[in-house]
Amino acid sequence: MAKITLDIFRFDEAVDTVPHRDKVVVDIPETTTVLDALEHAKAEVDGSISFRRSCRSAICGSCSMNVNGITGLACKTPCNTVMDETGTVKIDPMPNFQPMKDMVVHMDPFWDKYTRLKPYLQPKDADSAHATERRVSPDDMHKLVQVANCIMCATCYALCPVVSVDPAFAGPAAIAYAYRFIEDVRDGERKERIAQISEDYLWLCAHCYACSYCPKHVDPNDRIIDVKRAAISERVMMNERGPRHALTVVKTIKQTGMLAETELIQGTVGRFNIIGLLKVAPLGLRMASKGKLPPIFMKPIPKVDEVRTIIDSLEVPVA
Ligand code: SF4
Ligand code: SF4
Ligand code: FES
Repeated sequence: MAKITLDIFRFDEAVDTVPHRDKVVVDIPETTTVLDALEHAKAEVDGSISFRRSCRSAICGSCSMNVNGITGLACKTPCNTVMDETGTVKIDPMPNFQPMKDMVVHMDPFWDKYTRLKPYLQPKDADSAHATERRVSPDDMHKLVQVANCIMCATCYALCPVVSVDPAFAGPAAIAYAYRFIEDVRDGERKERIAQISEDYLWLCAHCYACSYCPKHVDPNDRIIDVKRAAISERVMMNERGPRHALTVVKTIKQTGMLAETELIQGTVGRFNIIGLLKVAPLGLRMASKGKLPPIFMKPIPKVDEVRTIIDSLEVPVA
């Protein structure tokens, strides 16, 4: 047994204007999960400590919270893997959500974005033709299994820096779940779904990989790349900056073996978009004043053919 101090975020939107913290000492085996430690504190010390949970086995997705600065499932996190040298475990609600009571947060923005996906199959053909079952080959199903493991815990959403600066961004879980229907051979709304998730700022994802910390290994970041590829192959919103930027990056690297930043700005903003180019001109002037202006014309690096071979082998779309 060990004495573990739970340093707990406390806030009740019904009565508090600012949060405070409580320290609760529990006498438990140090391999106890953070969730069970909280259960212990609630049962033995303070019944008002609030948090969501159900399965206690990483299945229901209810218990995501921030433990010592890292967001994840409390029921999958043993205290001895996170407590500091003083035996303290600091517990907070998930970031990117408005706290309701202690670790319970308002999940509405997360669910709203999920609901916008229409997260159910929409086959094009009449149901009468498939009255009993719709068969899917093992290969086609294999593509969906990983995403189907998502338990909607919102850990990835809480970790996403783009959500924190632009709450309109769909977020990693919603885009990964959009992939689940976009790539389902039984669904008939592929292009409409891609258009929908593109309108929900698919291209804002900065590929920082913060959301790769997913307790069910869904790897939303990789699925976002897949959805962006699908958007380009279906020619959805090709006049937007996101796809233009991605295609120009690949084009310049294929041409020279390097990122040609001057070309990248023109390709992203639009070569004939005079107003857009004027808007980025001050940035160019500031870079020039610091001697950082990239060259307008770039010579290919030696062995650029090897770079081109790599790009061709990846089968990435090129402008
Ligand atoms: S993708 Fe992973 S982290 Fe995100 S909601 Fe699903 S299970 Fe949770
Ligand atoms: S990879 Fe994209 S979706 Fe994932 S955390 Fe980073 S910005 Fe957010
Ligand atoms: S309690 Fe269900 S995932 Fe943690």
